[in-house]
Amino acid sequence: MKKRLLSGMRPTGPLHLGHLFGALENWVKLQEEYDCLFMVADWHALMSEYEHPEGIKKNTYEMIRDWVACGIDPKKSVIFQQSEVSQHLELAMVLSIITPLGWLERLPTYKEQLREIKGRDITTYGFLGYPVLQAADILVYKAHKVPVGEDQKSHLELTREIVRKFHFLYKKEIFPEPETLLTKVPRLLGLDNRKMSKSYDNYIALSDSPDEIRAKVVKMITDPKRIKLADKGHPDVCNVFSYCKVFADNEKITEVHKYCTGALKGCTECKKDLADIIIERLKDIRAKRTNLKDLDVDKLLKDGNKKAAEIAGETISKVKELVGLHK
Ligand code: TRP
Ligand code: SF4
Repeated sequence: MKKRLLSGMRPTGPLHLGHLFGALENWVKLQEEYDCLFMVADWHALMSEYEHPEGIKKNTYEMIRDWVACGIDPKKSVIFQQSEVSQHLELAMVLSIITPLGWLERLPTYKEQLREIKGRDITTYGFLGYPVLQAADILVYKAHKVPVGEDQKSHLELTREIVRKFHFLYKKEIFPEPETLLTKVPRLLGLDNRKMSKSYDNYIALSDSPDEIRAKVVKMITDPKRIKLADKGHPDVCNVFSYCKVFADNEKITEVHKYCTGALKGCTECKKDLADIIIERLKDIRAKRTNLKDLDVDKLLKDGNKKAAEIAGETISKVKELVGLHK
């Protein structure tokens, strides 16, 4: 039997190239090796967006279209919505009862977000419990593996601590201690050379049209020392070249390097070439996502939610029995 794997994303905005290289390409491969569950973490989205939740539903649909367009296959994997499987909240309740406050307050992610998230009031009871719900997401399916980025590592450590405490208290080992599958750091910076992030609005979305992609690439920062066409450029300090290295074939990369360092072609042309290459790379994804209608997403989710609830239901019955609530 294959081991089980779970991961999730919050539907807080359009998916971009960072998600494609940071997570989705990895998820697509993992589908072959594991029994995968991919979750729309909409309760987690609500924790930070509750004052303006208008986008969550639309983002959920768009996100699933991106997932499927990138190769997440509903025939191989369970795609579902956290808020439609009520057992997540039941398990989160139990886990919150046994999780000491100190374990949550000392998490680096929590302290950092309190410092960094501006314009939203996240000093709430719910937000402190964010990682407890995340632990429940994982444990309610008894997942063995959880692919996440570096920033989520401490949440997985917390999940394992909670598992050990549960087993110690109720004298039965029902959960595997879930293992982190660390996703490599994304190879790409944002268009403005800062970290690629929704909040900086410095990304190319998977749903961007060719015109939008061209307009964004035109604005990218190049080698600041290359002002005139006759100036020899330094591709290694140029973000356009970094993108090139990710998207272009070797022949093209060598060509760009040569014309940049030899001052044979200007940055405008170089960017035009890059935009064409990105557009070509995203062409199939774009076509697939356009083909997938809201109704298809509805159907796929209904099916996924049902499968998820079946597994989660079994876990919850067992948990209730162990903590002394029923049977
Ligand atoms: N916290 C994760 C993030 O922001 C999303 C998430 C919620 C998640 N529940 C999860 C990821 C369970 C992995 C497993 O990226
Ligand atoms: Fe960057 Fe291309 Fe200009 Fe060289 S020619 S500095 S690689 S944009």
